Amino acid sequence: MYRTHTCGELRLQHKGTDVTLAGWVQRIRNLGGMTFIDLRDRYGITQLVINDQADAHIKNAAARLGREFVLQASGAVAERLSKNAKIPTGDIEIIVTALHVLNAAETPPFTIEDESDGGEELRARFRYLDLRRNPLRRAIELRHQMAREARSYLDSEQFLEIETPFLIKSTPEGARDFVVPSRMNPGEFYALPQSPQTFKQLLMVSGYDRYFQIVRCFRDEDLRADRQPEFTQIDCEMAFVEREDILHTFEGLAKHLFRSVLQKEITGDFPRMSYADALRYYGSDKPDIRFGMRIADLTGILKGKGFAAFDGAGYIGGICVENAAGYTRKQLDELTEWVKRPQIGAKGLVHVRLTGEGIRSSVDKFYTPDDLQAVAAEFPAKEGDLVLILAGEAKKTQEALGALRIEMGNRLGLRRNNEFAPLWVYDFPLLEWDEDTQRFYAMHHPFTAPKPDDLDKFYANDKSLLAQVNANAYDFVLNGTEIGGGSIRIHDAKVQQRMFEVLGFSKEEADYKFGFLINAFKYGAPPHGGIAFGFDRWCALFGGQETIRDYIAFPKNNAGRDVMLDAPSKIDAAQLTELQLELKL
Ligand code: AMO
Repeated sequence: MYRTHTCGELRLQHKGTDVTLAGWVQRIRNLGGMTFIDLRDRYGITQLVINDQADAHIKNAAARLGREFVLQASGAVAERLSKNAKIPTGDIEIIVTALHVLNAAETPPFTIEDESDGGEELRARFRYLDLRRNPLRRAIELRHQMAREARSYLDSEQFLEIETPFLIKSTPEGARDFVVPSRMNPGEFYALPQSPQTFKQLLMVSGYDRYFQIVRCFRDEDLRADRQPEFTQIDCEMAFVEREDILHTFEGLAKHLFRSVLQKEITGDFPRMSYADALRYYGSDKPDIRFGMRIADLTGILKGKGFAAFDGAGYIGGICVENAAGYTRKQLDELTEWVKRPQIGAKGLVHVRLTGEGIRSSVDKFYTPDDLQAVAAEFPAKEGDLVLILAGEAKKTQEALGALRIEMGNRLGLRRNNEFAPLWVYDFPLLEWDEDTQRFYAMHHPFTAPKPDDLDKFYANDKSLLAQVNANAYDFVLNGTEIGGGSIRIHDAKVQQRMFEVLGFSKEEADYKFGFLINAFKYGAPPHGGIAFGFDRWCALFGGQETIRDYIAFPKNNAGRDVMLDAPSKIDAAQLTELQLELKL
């Protein structure tokens, strides 16, 4: 037996017991002829002591130890003279009577402690060492709990976990596909699924009316802190349901996860907001509602008063930052530069200060005190507040205000990561027009049903009417992050065919790509709908982090590379020949 206990297990009550532990050397200290070793495993750290009475060969072995050596140590549990209140095993130590080096270790390239001295790139190359550190271990454990609890809840709600294939047909869902050449079918390729979307719908046709899967998805898209090329979804689908059934079921899942993983009880229904209101008041389709600072439309008050930058704008809007009237010139200049960054794209920033001496703005020349009072009343702003105003094309300006709002929320510490504000956003537009390609794209995906009230517009051959069609789609938003998205699906072959037509697919193209689905819909497809949650994102948010990387055991870097494996990599000529592929590089 390698060990009788783990390194996190022993307490004063074990005093006098003979135990055997196995683990890694975290630290070695020599003090007046005694050697103290911190032995670590994933459960904790236990102090080993090699004292004067120890055998010579134990003392010799101890003298040759280094960090990260793998040891097996036996001895009796003793009460420590100087206790360490910081660790659960801090009251005891093991007086070592047998010591085996199970494996030596080279000096690790960085310190394996909570705060490591290793840079990101170095730690990524030695991911297996980084994973020994507590912050990562905790992240991986949280992920496990989340998966276990999600399964347990969905199982209790009669969902069946069903696996779907990874080698599938390229069916674009918005991102680019990763493709896999087929040796047995030269010149043909599989695609890795961007999500199991079509399979879960086929399962509904098959009668498995509640499906879920914790499943890997693959998308060849630009990466960010909350995006990985392969990521995991809790993917779900239900038959014979309407939107309300779905929101209710998955609000239940969210509450269960809050309760079982974070010990947080969320009472009452989650708030809901239409896409239009989300944009209007928060400048985002994923509002962070942990704090207010809602956007107000100031166009009616500020347009047409002789200030050229505003008079030429389609929309003027602002946010009110409480107690920020004292911002200095320098701070305001810096904010102005911030909104002018290409990512935000505003032309300038106008401010209105509500001070004890009255209202002051950076454009006093053009506006009367009454105008400025009217601006203040829109929020309403009070003495000591600062109103920040942007103008331009409506949607872009609302989005810029939304970004400014988040930035101010960050600066003022209003986005606390132990506070959670879930939200459903619904009634998204069905279609988005793309100027470059001169065609509509599905805002969610091509299988999302239009709202029944909008069917007339959906069948009209009129671009502006089509742009107004709302989708029966919804997103689950947590703290300003899109955690999940779903919709009621089209289950009628003719409506699905119309959707492909609207998206500019010829009948042949639609048949080639999606014939299997249209066919399936001809054989008794039930009304159905579902949702998929970004599992990595959900874990990261529960862990209080913005980046999902630490919640994935072996993630890719921002360039989509696995720096530990050094992948992607070249394949040899024989493999290319076998696949009948030739490189054009
Ligand atoms: P959608 O594309 O909205 O919907 O994806 C669902 C959720 O998956 C997460 N997500 C990602 N997480 C990490 N890295 C990525 N690259 C990434 N892309 C998406 C997000 C998102 O909300 N089949 C539909 C679901 C449905 O209609 O049922 C789908 O995949 O949190």
